[in-house]
Amino acid sequence: MPIAELDEEIVSHRLFADEARARVVFARLRAEDPVHLTQAKGYPPFWAVTKSADVAEVERQNDRFLNAPLVFLLDCEEYAQRMKDTNGTGQYLRTLVNMDGAEHRAMRGLTQAWFMPHNLKRLDALVRSRATEMVDLMARTGECDFAQSIAPWYPLRVIMSLLGMPEEHHPDLLRLTQQLLAPHEDQQQRSSADLERAKKQAFGAFATHFQALIAQRRAEPRDDLATLLVQAQIDGRPLGPQELLGYFLIVATAGHDTTASSLASGLLALLQHPDQLARLRREPALLGGAVEEILRWASPVRHFMRTAQEDYVLRGRQIRKGDYLMMCYPSASFDEEVFPDGHLFRIDRTPNRHLAFGFGVHACLGQHLARMELKAFLAEFLARVEDVQIDGPVTLVASNQVSGPRHLPLRYTMAAS
Ligand code: HEM
Repeated sequence: MPIAELDEEIVSHRLFADEARARVVFARLRAEDPVHLTQAKGYPPFWAVTKSADVAEVERQNDRFLNAPLVFLLDCEEYAQRMKDTNGTGQYLRTLVNMDGAEHRAMRGLTQAWFMPHNLKRLDALVRSRATEMVDLMARTGECDFAQSIAPWYPLRVIMSLLGMPEEHHPDLLRLTQQLLAPHEDQQQRSSADLERAKKQAFGAFATHFQALIAQRRAEPRDDLATLLVQAQIDGRPLGPQELLGYFLIVATAGHDTTASSLASGLLALLQHPDQLARLRREPALLGGAVEEILRWASPVRHFMRTAQEDYVLRGRQIRKGDYLMMCYPSASFDEEVFPDGHLFRIDRTPNRHLAFGFGVHACLGQHLARMELKAFLAEFLARVEDVQIDGPVTLVASNQVSGPRHLPLRYTMAAS
């Protein structure tokens, strides 16, 4: 089969509902055409960048390859609708991921220190108490659909607690996030323009939630991330309403579907590799390594796009100014040049230079928090949940943006306390 026949799969959301097939497609691309000009019906042409070194080479040169105007691939119909709805900017709300250069540096600088491990340490108890609550919830039943009733709720509750969002808003915020990040799930019958309209409505609903929180923190400042943002200044001026909303939106959305997908994928991987699960139970000191391997294995952010600002030669392929490039993180995390035995799930893998968190100036701002959450949950889970079995069909979310298990039915017993 000629490599061009993979183009329809590369753009398809459904590819990520079939993990084995996705691995085959990317392995072929890495072997035969690692910087691949993808020309799928209904999509703008773009370069699929599938090797770790090439993703890093592009992301390192953030002045040559910009995040603006769009970081997720849209089909031509979605693109047209998006541009119409956003007066040609491509963005309903500007967030960190859409910014470049000095603007990005200044905006990211506002919270960079807050997201570093030395500051996050003080949140350890909060994160662990959220993990305990989730395992308490599991304990009530002896069975659950982990991907539906546990994984999405845990990081949601952590991040919403960190932002200080009242608990009664959490279910709605979960629904809205899923609408933004996996809009194609169960909606294959809807047109791209309809999906874009639904996304626009979701942005509006988010804004309503956060405007109330912003007003509240202005009136009564606290020692939390929301207050930090409300009081933040760049060159002596406070953030404008749209800038503030954009910041809340990116922290809220980037912070939970990704972590939830990693958690469910990680648990699934451990259950599919019982020797690794048994070893982790025996050697809890391997938890940090297990989390890195889970992140590599899951790589739940399926791609981000970059736009070339000038002509450039990447691995011998002539990229032209204005070309669109897809950073294929799940592929980079399985690149044979970095991981000769990458098809093996190994909790003792060192070094583990995966690209699940991206690379360079845009590398995940919340990566230390995500690691902390995954470690806290797994520690609690391993200590209290025994004899875990997969108890029904496992399915994956069909999205090429952020995805992982959609259903992960489990049966288990709790350890005697
Ligand atoms: C396992 C969970 C997570 C994964 C796999 C993940 C992955 C990523 C990736 C791949 C990027 C883009 C990097 C690039 O362009 O090179 C990113 C950016 C970002 N992530 Fe995460 N993320 C996770 C959790 C979080 C959490 C918990 C937060 C915050 C609470 C967060 C906040 C962000 C933000 C704000 C950005 C944009 C950074 C920028 O453009 O400067 N992420 N993340």
